[in-house]
Amino acid sequence: MIFRHGSLSRRDAFLLLIGASSMHIWTLIFNARGLDTDQSIVINTHVSQQDALGEFLTTTAVLKVTETKLETMTATVTELAAPTSTSRSLSPFDDLPPTDILAHAPGWTLFRNVYMSNGTMFIVADEASRKKIPEIRMMTSTGLEAVNTPENIALREPTPDNMRIISPEEAKERWVFTSKDANRPSFNRVWSVEGNTLLFNDPPQFLNHYYHFVAELFFGVQAFWHGAFSEPISTADALSPSSATHYSLRHPHAPPIHRAIFAHASADAWRDNPGFNSYFLRAALPSVVVENQVDWDDRIRATRPKTGEPQTDARAWHFSVVLLTDRSAAHRGAVCGSQTQRTAAEAWDFMRLRGKLRGLHVGGWWAPLREAVWRFAGAEEGLEAAIDMRQAKDPDKIVISYISRQSARSRKLIADDHKLLVESLEELVARKNKERADAQPEDVPLEYELTVVEAEKLTHDQQIRMAARTTIMLGVHGNGLTHLVFMKPNRASTVIELFFPGGFAHDYYWTSRALGMRHLAVWNDTHRAYPNKPDVNYPEGFQGDFIPVHGPTVVQLIEDRVAMKL
Ligand SMILES: *[C@@H]1O[C@H](CO)[C@@H](O)[C@H](O)[C@H]1NC(C)=O
Ligand SMILES: *[C@@H]1O[C@H](CO)[C@@H](O)[C@H](O)[C@H]1NC(C)=O
Repeated sequence: MIFRHGSLSRRDAFLLLIGASSMHIWTLIFNARGLDTDQSIVINTHVSQQDALGEFLTTTAVLKVTETKLETMTATVTELAAPTSTSRSLSPFDDLPPTDILAHAPGWTLFRNVYMSNGTMFIVADEASRKKIPEIRMMTSTGLEAVNTPENIALREPTPDNMRIISPEEAKERWVFTSKDANRPSFNRVWSVEGNTLLFNDPPQFLNHYYHFVAELFFGVQAFWHGAFSEPISTADALSPSSATHYSLRHPHAPPIHRAIFAHASADAWRDNPGFNSYFLRAALPSVVVENQVDWDDRIRATRPKTGEPQTDARAWHFSVVLLTDRSAAHRGAVCGSQTQRTAAEAWDFMRLRGKLRGLHVGGWWAPLREAVWRFAGAEEGLEAAIDMRQAKDPDKIVISYISRQSARSRKLIADDHKLLVESLEELVARKNKERADAQPEDVPLEYELTVVEAEKLTHDQQIRMAARTTIMLGVHGNGLTHLVFMKPNRASTVIELFFPGGFAHDYYWTSRALGMRHLAVWNDTHRAYPNKPDVNYPEGFQGDFIPVHGPTVVQLIEDRVAMKL
């Protein structure tokens, strides 16, 4: 961006580089050595980050001119080996292995060898390794429902009943039985939960909602899991915003996830009314076994000594590899808490800064789940993805999908404005297709298509197929826009979100940009877009049924966007 006109000298560029705005890349390069060092934790929570993806694009452009520094940096970056997920089952006579923290961002912690007894997570660490453990409040909480009152915020602070750090000696005292008879071996009372586990500490409050479940929880899971087990991209790629790596839909193989545990949610509580959460989970991760609160309670009860019986009857579960996710802890981080309000942003940004996410311009890191859902839904894109050139291409066709909320319970457009919007879009499509019909054979413009979608009238499969074909997704702020995570990325992919004038929320803005797509917020006859995004605001009328929109303005935005003027 800064360099488009080649107006800066190398020296200027270097000065820029050491300015505050390029902190990210320094973090990426100099912090790449240890995912589990103190430093990574401190930097992750304290670096000020304006807009993650924007910064990525500009700072990488700046770094392009510092080639002289490259050689030394490369050596540092390549030292970071991706952890493996090797699962280990303990035998009764094994020593209890200490806990490793493979990766951590606020609300997202990947453990190896962590223990649970009586509902408490136990991290086993000696004095030396304790220093490397993140603050417990950045990993977990009491898992209570969140409301924004000081009392509730205090009640969500974790207690020693939620998580504790104990020494290897204490672990042994608790769960290893040593016979008085010196000839008999000691044996542990620890049972391994083999394989790879997702442990969600979230309350049901946000689980039974398509956006929060898919575009937040599993979006973050995919970024963190995929990132943690990937080798970082090369320094040269990290420094070049136009590198094919940032357009790549190829991704290193990540270890399988075997189970998902919703510790605070009943079987119904993670399922949403339209049924998209379970549709997504079964389509994207068909092998994952789901446990809910009842199962977690079974596990808790199984570890508790019976009243009156000796404490030596206490048992513990040993989790080989577990990704613990906690919504309240994520909100204690800077990226989620003060910039995006998106828990997934902590996971995504952490991995992005370490060069661990492929295909930032096309959501390449998300592609495995997106493609799985496409295939499941019978979207042609699901099969095409496997044979594609795997690059962000020009679109074959401009497919506009207007997701209408006019038959929803609330948050609707003024009826006449909806009517004019549809008419304007129809006029656009007719005009463009006429231009196409009249065009000279050597310069045929793209075909246009419009679908006005009333999601509730379509099956799940139909909705996903609609999203997969969409170039421009348009609609009033709402859950229907969650389908943007299933759009097929190309250079024109855009989400146009209609707000009551003055209103703004980060949900679809952040999510679109995390997938490399353009997001335009429309306020009647004006629009706002990165880097000029509005602040979060819910003015009177935000949830109402009289949201104004000027159809011709939306049409102009679409034309400008397809012409790459926006
Ligand atoms: C188990 O946890 C419960 C609730 O947190 C607590 O009241 C009880 O004392 C604990 N039991 C043991 C044996 O630690
Ligand atoms: C929306 O924009 C149109 C076109 O500029 C204008 O005529 C109309 O008054 C605006 N509506 C509101 C509520 O501001």
